[in-house]
Amino acid sequence: MTEKGNSRASSKALRDLPAEGVSKAVSRRNFIKGVITSGVAVSSAGYLFRTSSLLHGQQLPAGLGERLITLNVNGQQRRVDAMKQETLASTLRYKLGLTGTKLGCDRAECGSCTVLIDDIPYYSCSVLTHTVRARKVVTIEGLASADGTLHPMQQGVIDEQGFQCAFCMPGFIMTTVGYLKTNPNPTRQQLAQGLSGNLCRCQDYDKILTAMMRGAENLRRAKLG
Ligand code: FES
Ligand code: FES
Repeated sequence: MTEKGNSRASSKALRDLPAEGVSKAVSRRNFIKGVITSGVAVSSAGYLFRTSSLLHGQQLPAGLGERLITLNVNGQQRRVDAMKQETLASTLRYKLGLTGTKLGCDRAECGSCTVLIDDIPYYSCSVLTHTVRARKVVTIEGLASADGTLHPMQQGVIDEQGFQCAFCMPGFIMTTVGYLKTNPNPTRQQLAQGLSGNLCRCQDYDKILTAMMRGAENLRRAKLG
């Protein structure tokens, strides 16, 4: 029988069901709808907690207590609903709205998602959010000063116009900022080595390296005052 024939047969079967059968079929559908709705309610609860005290003092839905965690991101304590298997890149982008962290490969190859965790560059697509609870996370949004003054590394990019599409830029900047903490005055060759875990699809490596070297110089000058 064709698929169309099958579907006709099932409508007929549904029509022919006794009243009790129809009621069971409908309640099963309602049951499934209920599960989907409650799943959505649980996953969106993090936003409610972040923005209001609507559920304050009430019992949390089952399992949510373990998922509600506090992260230190860019110097702020951020309450977030994160699943156990959720990556830091996803949490930053889709729960905390920090979309400066880019997702390129999503499998630890391109470096677009690099953030600092306790001052060390990490691919945030390969770090589970729950593992960074007691640590300090810094994203590209956390580099500029509160008054809007750019970080010396960001200024270096502007000074040298170092990128084409700039999709990879936040990752390169965060990696360089982390690298310079251990080697503040690198040679061009050393910095190229330090950035070798970051890829640029526009293949603008020479200009990027020039911009990063300029940023490093800006940073040394800023530290001298
Ligand atoms: S998106 Fe994380 S390394 Fe590519
Ligand atoms: S400038 Fe386009 S991906 Fe790097």
